[in-house]
Amino acid sequence: MTSAIPDKQSLLAKLEPYGQQHLLQFWDELPDEGKARLAHQIGQLDLPLIQSLFLGEVDQPDWAELARRASPPQAVRLSERSEGGELGISSEAARTRGIESLSRGEVGVLLTAGGQGTRLGYDRPKCTYPIGPVSSASLLQIHIEKVLAASRRYGVKIPLYLMTSPGTHDETLLFLNENDRFGLPEADLFVFCQGTMPAVDVESGKLLLAAKDSLFQSPDGHGGTVAALASSGALEQMDDRGIRQLFYLQVDNPLVPIGDPEVIGIHLLAGSELTSLAVAKQTPQDKLGNFVSIDGRQQVIEYSDFPEEVAELRDEQGELKFWAGSIAVHVFEVEMLKRSLCESHTLPFHIARKKVPHLLPDGSEVSPKEPNALKFEKFIFDLLPTARRPIVVEFAEEDCFAPLKNAPGAPKDTAEYVQEMMVEQHHRWLQAAGAEVAENISVEISPRFALDAQEVAECITPGRVFSEPEYLVDERL
Ligand code: UD1
Repeated sequence: MTSAIPDKQSLLAKLEPYGQQHLLQFWDELPDEGKARLAHQIGQLDLPLIQSLFLGEVDQPDWAELARRASPPQAVRLSERSEGGELGISSEAARTRGIESLSRGEVGVLLTAGGQGTRLGYDRPKCTYPIGPVSSASLLQIHIEKVLAASRRYGVKIPLYLMTSPGTHDETLLFLNENDRFGLPEADLFVFCQGTMPAVDVESGKLLLAAKDSLFQSPDGHGGTVAALASSGALEQMDDRGIRQLFYLQVDNPLVPIGDPEVIGIHLLAGSELTSLAVAKQTPQDKLGNFVSIDGRQQVIEYSDFPEEVAELRDEQGELKFWAGSIAVHVFEVEMLKRSLCESHTLPFHIARKKVPHLLPDGSEVSPKEPNALKFEKFIFDLLPTARRPIVVEFAEEDCFAPLKNAPGAPKDTAEYVQEMMVEQHHRWLQAAGAEVAENISVEISPRFALDAQEVAECITPGRVFSEPEYLVDERL
């Protein structure tokens, strides 16, 4: 063990040119195990990159300037979906094409679950959050059951690629094992872990220590998915299975229409490499990424980078000019993800000022009240400008978007809000099938019972009355 530990001098030689030698200030008091951990972390650091990010040498786009010369993205609006708008792809043609691809087993599902859920105030991985309004089913269970329900419907085994981060990995695996992967066969689940980035002090650029023997590190953003798919062997496995499209979602939103055949069909018939779902923003201040087109290329500009006067622009009909809010659901061509691995700078780091607890030089811990550090994250939607023929498809918000982001008390995106949205959707499906649901009760539909309104209509007898809270879960899987 001791022989595997580099000596202090060689570590200093790596750190000193970048002014980071303080990382070794507790070295002499560390046991061998701690020395090994710290040496390993230092060995992984890309110090020139971190320095250039701190110095701002790696170009940070002028989002405000870009937003001012942007136009709305190429899109199929909700009102155009049946005829297909400018693309001329009717919803019927799209569904037929999507079903064909799903039935051939060409579609996989990619779920990112690496975020730490800090805003939610929940100290376990967000995927374990018991969100089911009647069942208390976790977010992960709901997503997995949708994958299983889609597999059942199309008569194939749809694989799930699940991305964790070092902070969520072990607990997520344990949760999956304890629950027999919620019925997903072992061969259809590929769990992989994303990378991390350290944080630096906002004033000095010095890397922060979380403990005497370890750096503060956090997930490298969902843009880290692409590199992690490659390094984990997931891309190879996709090739072996013949997976050509990936339906991408983030773990916080239980309303995602996983594997929606119409979206997949539009994506394929239009020859798109990246198709994204959007909802119409209700107000200019909605906290959603904005789909825009700049110099003929599609892009997402985060709400925090979008100038208010641009967000407030309206068209002749009085509608928001930049209406397309991102719900972080996309269909990717696997080939495009592979290509992006060979193109440097496709996924730049975004820099955010955050409060990062860390060790002071005297070894005491500090939890700052104000942002004290720079964190570096990549965003998966930065692939958009490099994608061929990208398209945005508008969905009604109530059919696809209720993300769990905030602790109780916030106006939106709390657990209570998400549960309300789930119940309203399930009640709409039941009522459309001719059932009656008493007021003030909740009926929750498991994807095991029905994946969507169409399947509810197939298994509910018109006139059926629901007068008690109920969880519909009859096994069809
Ligand atoms: C995100 C999008 C925003 C979109 C909104 C819709 C970003 C930067 N912004 O905002 O455009 O309108 O969702 O809900 O993504 N994750 C990882 N690893 C990471 C970071 C994130 O797996 O390193 C995943 C997690 O599943 C997490 C999700 O991404 O739940 C969302 O990330 P978060 O940073 O919370 O973005 P939002 O501000 O919610």
